Amino acid sequence: MPNESDPQTVVNPSGLLDALMQSSGHIGILHRAVESARNGICITDATAQDNPIIYVNPAFLELTGYTLDEIVGHNCRFLQGADRDQPELQIVRHSLAAGLPSTAILRNYKKDGTLFWNELSLAPVFDSQKQVINFIGVQNDITARKDAEQRVSEFHSMVSHELRTPLSSIRASLGLVIDGSAGEIPTSAKRLIQIASQNAERLLKLVDDVLDLKKIESGKLVLHFEMIEPGSLVRDVLDSLPAITANGISIKKDIAKTKQFCADRDRVSQVLINLLANAIKFSPPRSEIVITVENQRDAVKFSVKDQGPGIPPEGQGKLFMKFQQLDSSDTRPHSGSGLGLAISKTIIELHGGTIGIISEPGQGSTFWFTLPLVPKVE
Ligand SMILES: Cc1cc2nc3c(=O)[nH]c(=O)nc-3n(C[C@H](O)[C@H](O)[C@H](O)COP(=O)(O)O)c2cc1C
Repeated sequence: MPNESDPQTVVNPSGLLDALMQSSGHIGILHRAVESARNGICITDATAQDNPIIYVNPAFLELTGYTLDEIVGHNCRFLQGADRDQPELQIVRHSLAAGLPSTAILRNYKKDGTLFWNELSLAPVFDSQKQVINFIGVQNDITARKDAEQRVSEFHSMVSHELRTPLSSIRASLGLVIDGSAGEIPTSAKRLIQIASQNAERLLKLVDDVLDLKKIESGKLVLHFEMIEPGSLVRDVLDSLPAITANGISIKKDIAKTKQFCADRDRVSQVLINLLANAIKFSPPRSEIVITVENQRDAVKFSVKDQGPGIPPEGQGKLFMKFQQLDSSDTRPHSGSGLGLAISKTIIELHGGTIGIISEPGQGSTFWFTLPLVPKVE
């Protein structure tokens, strides 16, 4: 039973609605459709005090475990029980006050107290005078999805942390052997150890990417802003990539005199390194990569152009999504977690900038990003 005062007298709203529905074929169809929907559907009276429920469909009753009599005339907040401290309720309140549609994910409780995650979509219903007379809410039970997300997230952190420590130690030990700190080793063994070391490095990068992404997704990535001179940033990035000219690939800089910009130096370097590493990975031997820095009105634009195979338009959209390799049909052994571009996109967007690609098959690719001179952080 909802923990609120008794409902005001409601003249069996469902019966009223039934009578209305039968008056026209169309409305009859609508009624049957709403009654058959698998999602909960709830209509409230926005003109009455506290927006009480006037209709819910059978799926709503099935989802919540309440009967119609127990809830008609009540505000839907009874579904939150005592769990009222939910930031997403602000979205709901704002949407109701402004008469705007919204979607919020709320913790709700069935009549027997069981928690379920409710993805609630709200929309105002207007009369002919454009006044909001009702709201319609569609309840989508996403508990299974939330549970799966939680399990994946726990698995990620367990795997990441359990892997990171031993991997760092393997990499350090292999480094010492390669350096000769552990004594002379035959050339053939050295080569094998170098391969092992490169692969340990690659695995560590994957683990770090997963950890980064988790940090970003949980809103824990904090940016440390400072004034940056674009030319010095590019120079530092190039210095940190010793293997940059492997395979005879050369890197040219075309850096305009730009104003300084305010950003997180380490994070922007991370994006640039990621774009350069991708460009190197996909460049043919002895080709050229060009890094350009240009002025825009209130922003600075960085571009990394390669002479690689290019990416067809239909492949470009998913490039910045998680776990997407640049070219999954390509059988060459391109290492990488498929997370770099997703992380780069988030970093740039956290600064209020944008990131994108211009590419055509056979014409190479230009990955670019812009950063506002002053970050637009929400
Ligand atoms: C049509 C409609 C359906 C709603 N459905 C739900 C719901 O399923 N679960 C929920 O927790 N809140 C739901 N709400 C939101 C609450 O009724 C209420 O607006 C929210 O708790 C914020 O207001 P409050 O701070 O006054 O409680 C719905 C609101 C409307 C208008």
